[in-house]
Amino acid sequence: MTYHYQIYFRRRRGATGIPFELAQTEFKAIFSPFGLHIKHGHIPKHRIWVTLKLSPKEIPQHAQNLAYTEAILSQRIEPYSGKEINPIGRGGWYTGWIRQDDKQIYQEEVFVQDIQNRRSESPDQHAFPVYINNQLIHIQGHHVGRALSAMDTRYLFNIADLPPNARILDPFAGFGSIIREGHRRNITIFASDIDPILSLGLQGLAPQSYALADARSLPYKSQTFDAIITEPPFDAKRQQAIVEALPNLMCILKPKGKLVLLIAQNMLAPIQSQCTLHHLMLTQISIIPRDHGLRCPVLVIQSLTK
Ligand SMILES: C[S@@+](CC[C@H](N)C(=O)[O-])C[C@H]1O[C@@H](n2cnc3c(N)ncnc32)[C@H](O)[C@@H]1O
Repeated sequence: MTYHYQIYFRRRRGATGIPFELAQTEFKAIFSPFGLHIKHGHIPKHRIWVTLKLSPKEIPQHAQNLAYTEAILSQRIEPYSGKEINPIGRGGWYTGWIRQDDKQIYQEEVFVQDIQNRRSESPDQHAFPVYINNQLIHIQGHHVGRALSAMDTRYLFNIADLPPNARILDPFAGFGSIIREGHRRNITIFASDIDPILSLGLQGLAPQSYALADARSLPYKSQTFDAIITEPPFDAKRQQAIVEALPNLMCILKPKGKLVLLIAQNMLAPIQSQCTLHHLMLTQISIIPRDHGLRCPVLVIQSLTK
């Protein structure tokens, strides 16, 4: 049985826009396994109309991890009866009966993004302890330049298509956004970072699974992880180290494992060359726009030979 839905994508996060394509890619990643058919879309309105082999009751459990979708409305479509119709305005959309040409459609909210809850996941809301010059300070927010937004973190997990009970590593753990998202999904994340000033905070977030380590020489056996999800440094001075780390990261992935990377634009060409050299399959999934006009490619890298 197929069911009709109307999907409202988010347009903005913070000061930055969310491209329609990015939101649609995430939606497809979650719902394609459930017979997703896109009937049509309206790019300026950030909306798509779809059918799914999921009933309205089954939608929330799959939608709960979406980052860029604002609402999902179920639609029951009938020929127009001729009776007066009074839709209920809900801010961005209508519920109840609406009329469309020769049809009447009964719309119900089956998922609405909990904005308060999502805001509570933001790095601004979590103090991260670091030692600087032997002084303990608590850093909060994006301004430190290392913390990934909670929405973008959700997105990286969503496109990774993780198996149940996946074992995941973030080898450039920074302020721990990826560990936090793992906690939210009840997944234990292994985490490492080269910077000792982060040890206290990362140990607190991942007490059993944190290591102070260079991504080029990690303390893990080959074929340990189902996925590596990470945001390497954007600093051009670190480019060489990231490129060198790539073969080692692939080695500790299981045969069908995926390396999901959110990178700086200038990292793309060196990573592409390294993938060609080591027979790795690189797919560019999307671009995430970020503050200061940054356009960050999201890549999935898999082994061709394992
Ligand atoms: C962009 S930040 C990661 C941010 C993280 N995703 C978050 O949300 O907090 C990059 C991190 O890579 C670390 N790093 C730089 N070079 C490294 C290397 N060779 N091996 C491991 N970590 C490294 C830095 O210390 C920094 O914390």
